[in-house]
Amino acid sequence: MALIIDTFNKVIHTMKTNIKPAEGKLGILIPGLGAVATTLIAGVEAVKKGISQPIGSVTQMGTIRLGKRTENRRPKIKDFVPLANLNDIVFGGWDVFEDNVYESAINAGVLEESLLNKIRGPLEAIKPMKAAFDHNYAKNLTGTYVKEGTRYELAQQVMEDIQNFQTANGCDRVVLVWCGSTEVYFEASDVHSTLEKFEQGLKDDDKLIAPSMIYAYAALKLGVGFANGAPNLTVDIPALIELAKITKTPIAGKDFKTGQTLMKTILAPGLAARALGVNGWFSTNILGNRDGLVLDDPDNFKTKEVSKLGVLEDILRPEDNPELYGDIFHKIRINYYPPHGDNKESWDNIDIFGWLGYKMQIKINFLCRDSILAAPIALDLALFIDMAKRANMSGVQEWLSFYLKSPQTAPGLQAENDIFKQLIKLENTLRHLMGEDLITHLGLDYYEDLVEDVIS
Ligand SMILES: NC(=O)c1ccc[n+]([C@@H]2O[C@H](COP(=O)([O-])OP(=O)(O)OC[C@H]3O[C@@H](n4cnc5c(N)ncnc54)[C@H](O)[C@@H]3O)[C@@H](O)[C@H]2O)c1
Repeated sequence: MALIIDTFNKVIHTMKTNIKPAEGKLGILIPGLGAVATTLIAGVEAVKKGISQPIGSVTQMGTIRLGKRTENRRPKIKDFVPLANLNDIVFGGWDVFEDNVYESAINAGVLEESLLNKIRGPLEAIKPMKAAFDHNYAKNLTGTYVKEGTRYELAQQVMEDIQNFQTANGCDRVVLVWCGSTEVYFEASDVHSTLEKFEQGLKDDDKLIAPSMIYAYAALKLGVGFANGAPNLTVDIPALIELAKITKTPIAGKDFKTGQTLMKTILAPGLAARALGVNGWFSTNILGNRDGLVLDDPDNFKTKEVSKLGVLEDILRPEDNPELYGDIFHKIRINYYPPHGDNKESWDNIDIFGWLGYKMQIKINFLCRDSILAAPIALDLALFIDMAKRANMSGVQEWLSFYLKSPQTAPGLQAENDIFKQLIKLENTLRHLMGEDLITHLGLDYYEDLVEDVIS
């Protein structure tokens, strides 16, 4: 038996990957300096000043088990893999409004003014660059601080912005994280199908190319990693996946997993694990921030709805278990309600059934703070995408789906939405990169005597 276990351990042992060290400064450039982005930037400044803790950031606060449980090795993730240090981060970005990050953070109303005043200097110093914007993609936004030109010219200007930012700030490396408004819903079409057609589309100023795609194209063309925090297609199209491969650049999307969907992907795997049935899941939200205003337009809401709806099906897999999950009524509503600001309130009513079909209900009332949950995700994605680039990982980084509501996968591959499986995938990816044994949680070797007794 020991031999079998030894063989098993060998199979899961991996070689350490050569990852370039995180030397020098990392620029994090953000299209969309609104609630999430300013909460992220202010948070990092507060942590750098020693007045706050990066709670919710798995890279900064999370630990990872290495080796056998008996070894008691559990370092912080930031001490295990070579990530950029928060002190080496420089922020910048674009917006359709000219407000600097301090002003925008005050408008967003997420963080208290007393906290923002302690870090006012560095926040005021970050002024947005003019946005690549098209009003048709966010009809409830009427920003004026926008670039002029065809889509091709806009992409060139964004590339210049990235290069100028990098030079002016002495950055070694740059990553982009889309924190812009959710764009209207549309499906990928011919212009998105190959890089050649996409580049022709830019030159033809094809209206089917969304602003977020212009930023993504500019970044990938320069070999700059890109993560998408909104549910827009953006990098989830064949043309940009092709470009990411050509320039050996990592990408991840879509939609930060916060609030109600976070709860859903924690709870649904638990119900499925116990083979409890579900026949209804009604989710409703009220929120009053600018995100809520943009999502008040039905076309923009549709993009969000599609991103949120897929989660349950992927976790519960009705096709594999029709008795338990074949007849679920899943409904999602988002209502714009200004008095709540960024403090989103969500209600879930879950109709479940157990032994002999007896019905039960679960009610969740989550009084969350949207951007407080999203900011650490944006930070972790930026740091991991930067590390992936240094580790020569390119294309879709599915191991980052832990952070995302609608994870991007290889074509034809069903997404994994169960947060616990996503965490195992993330942790095993880090172990794999660092040449540590992958952990299968089999654990039979702790009971080797017992196993030998049983098989003898
Ligand atoms: N807050 C959360 O918990 C959360 C969770 C998941 C996803 N998201 C997504 O993250 C994004 C940001 O959310 P938020 O709450 O910060 O919204 P927000 O409205 O406060 O900020 C978005 C900013 O993007 C700007 N913008 C829009 N189009 C732009 C463009 N083309 N170029 C540059 N800037 C542009 C807007 O002017 C605005 O300032 C949204 O798409 C939202 O759906 C947020």
